[in-house]
Amino acid sequence: MTGGSSTEGVAGAALVQPSPWFEARRVGKRFGSVVALEEVDVAFRPGEIVALIGDNGSGKSTFVKIASGVYQPDGGTLLIEGREARLRSAKDARQAGIETVHQDLGLVDSMSIARNFFLGAELRRGPFLDLTRMERETRKMLVEIGLGNLRAVGQEVSRLSGGERQAISIGRAVAFQKRMLILDEPTSALSIKETETVFEFIRMAKVRGLAVLCVMHNLVQVRDIADRFVVFWHGRKVADVANTGQSEKELAEYILEGKLSELGIERSSLDTGTLRALMQE
Ligand SMILES: Nc1ncnc2c1ncn2[C@@H]1O[C@H](COP(=O)(O)OP(=O)(O)OP(=O)(O)O)[C@@H](O)[C@H]1O
Ligand SMILES: [Mg+2]
Repeated sequence: MTGGSSTEGVAGAALVQPSPWFEARRVGKRFGSVVALEEVDVAFRPGEIVALIGDNGSGKSTFVKIASGVYQPDGGTLLIEGREARLRSAKDARQAGIETVHQDLGLVDSMSIARNFFLGAELRRGPFLDLTRMERETRKMLVEIGLGNLRAVGQEVSRLSGGERQAISIGRAVAFQKRMLILDEPTSALSIKETETVFEFIRMAKVRGLAVLCVMHNLVQVRDIADRFVVFWHGRKVADVANTGQSEKELAEYILEGKLSELGIERSSLDTGTLRALMQE
């Protein structure tokens, strides 16, 4: 493979990993006296799903907002394909190839599926919106990404279920050949069946070579989708590990790493009940 960096595998064989498409190096962000992120290093590679997990207030959404151009970091650097990138706005990030799916903000309810698909990238004929062409193109792209029998593209998005909305948002990123997909808590409001559908779409984005960053709370679900876990604690990265089938308890331990050392508790002495209690504090 070209453009890849290799590392030694377990058995000494060279495992070739693609170079990161997006990287954060020593990124920091403060809000007044609150340190939301401190010296965070994370790399995102094409075709890899990174799950970002961590306690409430650990800096996950702040990181997402920095990677999607909504906030500017006040320390550190962002790199796209190895070159320093300044994302001054959400538009900048989108133009660079980063698509962010927010829980509720991604789609406009009162607009049609087709208008939502082309939101911010509307097709025009002279000064007018070319609705016919947007509907035709949307239908074509939906078929291509396996959403072909989803309602008429002229229908309002308000008629879609939570899972269908997520699928449309993810599908849009794939259809427009974005390079990175960011999802902040994509399944928190979904049923189990809908979550499975959304996971299928996230996997499709992975297969198409997008780098995926997914913030998740549910430690059972996250094990089904992640290739790698990145764990934040009070604005710092405390773990960055491949998904090797860790148990829910092990993931909770990564999350509680900081808290445990503050309390002087040995990891190995913890049972699941105590962990759950600590997580609920
Ligand atoms: N706009 C803001 N103004 C002031 N403080 C903020 C702002 N955004 C985040 N913070 C603070 O920064 C810290 C990190 O918040 P962030 O929202 O990134 O956490 P999170 O990991 O996404 O949490 P959750 O799991 O609850 O969504 C928190 O202490 C939060 O109160
Ligand atoms: Mg958050």
